[in-house]
Amino acid sequence: MCGIVGCILKEKKDVAPILFECIKNLEYRGYDSIGLATYDNAIHVKKGKGDIRKVDREQNFSNMKGFYGIAHTRWASTGKPTHENAHPHLDDSNTVAVVHNGTLENYLEIREDLIEEGHEFISTTDTEVIPHLIKKFMDEGLDLEGAVRKCTKKLEGSYAIVAMSKDEPNKLVATRKDSPLIVAFGKDGYFVASDTPAVLDYAREVIRPKEGEIAILTKDGIEIHDKNGKKVRKTPQHIDWSPEMAKKEGFDHFMIKEITEQSLAVKHTLGQKANIKRIIKEIGDVKRICFVACGTSYHASITGKYLIESLAGIACDVVIASESKYTARTWDEDTLVIFISQSGETFDSLMALKEANKTSNTLAIVNVAGSAMTEEAKYFIQTQAGPEIGVAATKTYIAQLTAIYLFAGLMAGNDKIIEELSRVPKYIDEVMKEKDKIKEISKRYDFAENAFYLGRGFSYPIALEGALKLKEITYIHAEGYAAGELKHGPLALIDEKVPVIVIIPPGDDYKKTMVNLEEVKARGAIILTVCAKGDKKAADNSIDVIEINSEVTDIIAPLVYAVPLQLISYYVTCDKGYDPDKPRNLAKVITV
Ligand code: G6P
Repeated sequence: MCGIVGCILKEKKDVAPILFECIKNLEYRGYDSIGLATYDNAIHVKKGKGDIRKVDREQNFSNMKGFYGIAHTRWASTGKPTHENAHPHLDDSNTVAVVHNGTLENYLEIREDLIEEGHEFISTTDTEVIPHLIKKFMDEGLDLEGAVRKCTKKLEGSYAIVAMSKDEPNKLVATRKDSPLIVAFGKDGYFVASDTPAVLDYAREVIRPKEGEIAILTKDGIEIHDKNGKKVRKTPQHIDWSPEMAKKEGFDHFMIKEITEQSLAVKHTLGQKANIKRIIKEIGDVKRICFVACGTSYHASITGKYLIESLAGIACDVVIASESKYTARTWDEDTLVIFISQSGETFDSLMALKEANKTSNTLAIVNVAGSAMTEEAKYFIQTQAGPEIGVAATKTYIAQLTAIYLFAGLMAGNDKIIEELSRVPKYIDEVMKEKDKIKEISKRYDFAENAFYLGRGFSYPIALEGALKLKEITYIHAEGYAAGELKHGPLALIDEKVPVIVIIPPGDDYKKTMVNLEEVKARGAIILTVCAKGDKKAADNSIDVIEINSEVTDIIAPLVYAVPLQLISYYVTCDKGYDPDKPRNLAKVITV
């Protein structure tokens, strides 16, 4: 996903090395090209396709002169990943430079009109119309701020934009709609970025401009103006994530570091208990709940549905955000719509949240404070996982589950589940102590071309998440199935070349899942079982076994049994020589 950064220094030192460091911190969002623009009597642009360091070797960004500038990592959506399509983009007189995150729906019409007026375009991006429009409006007499405002009135779609102009130097102007953007106050200068980790090394006091507001950065400070150009007063929020928290701390990859941090993520999220109690009280009576989410957050939501229905007896749906439009018609004032999101910025979830706000009470369970969904939702719970850099969600998933269990347990007045939750960090740590054994087991699975994950009841979403983790980072085709569905299709694909991972904790569904395990065994499948310590029957029927503390019941299993599955995926990825932190074609935050 695109990442943008802008910086203006208080003193006249070259800003390019700082911009480069900041933009590197946004690598985790996924990108295919990178570029910088600085101002020193003229606007200078350097950009290219590929890895940040490779492009830097070719372009030598640190040679760029000027004390302010903008930078961008691009994740292609409109126009292929090419040098021409990399940002920053300029108008055809090199007067205005722009970086943009988002997608413009009406750029083709704007572009045709501009071409008729004599403008020439170099790229095939939607973004390039923006510097052309800004230049046109400045030529009509508007200042940079006015031209940016007028330009955004023409744009349909989503955008976070930072613009600079040679006709109005020493200034950056930024604005947003449906795409993330923060401004930050640092010791040596002022920043604008699409995400806080970009600037953590330099600035910690952060403001998130609202949609339609315009941020103006000069060497003397940052002003936020409302849509009428009136100055708005805002108090910056202090971000206490240390830069070290966003770095690998000696681990080979962010993913394994983040898996290791999971017991802490649970402990910290359990600290939200009082806050969640208060929110439940304020929400009051709820007749129906609907979870909305994407990806891993969707799998956490399925667990949420099972929990709420089984513990609180409240009817509960779960819907993928991009598929929520029909369900949305059934939301009413008695419905609580719960949005689960690591980033708080996922476009489809955000759009569904805006829709839900029209009819219903909304609650967002999000990991990133100050993100769009935290501002949109009527209620907000922050999961306490800290920044997650690996593209594949791990600790944020476990933290989401923790918040959901707290919510469901407190709503149902079920003290037993709350008490069981407090032991989860210990159970996770026990799994982590077995990681060398799990690493050995994983070596036997890197040959696979297909794999199936089976689970029933609370173990069904664990199977879905296990399969997603495997396919997204190892590129092995994997499917998670409700074990009861085995006979309705997947059994036809099972043979002695196919690993089947069976999640079988003790509890109500144990016997039925055991029948499924025997069915796949009869077809010669390579069975890896995740079961309770001492479960001899499961062990006898499997090739490999990962044992979990036998106190972990089926209800609490998603918080613990998911961990060895993450580890298997991680180690298989390493064995295959892939980078688990940056799976091909995927991005951490999907803001378009
Ligand atoms: C992307 C990420 C996933 C994540 C999904 C939903 O696909 O790669 O890890 O689960 O988006 O993101 P969210 O931030 O809303 O949880």
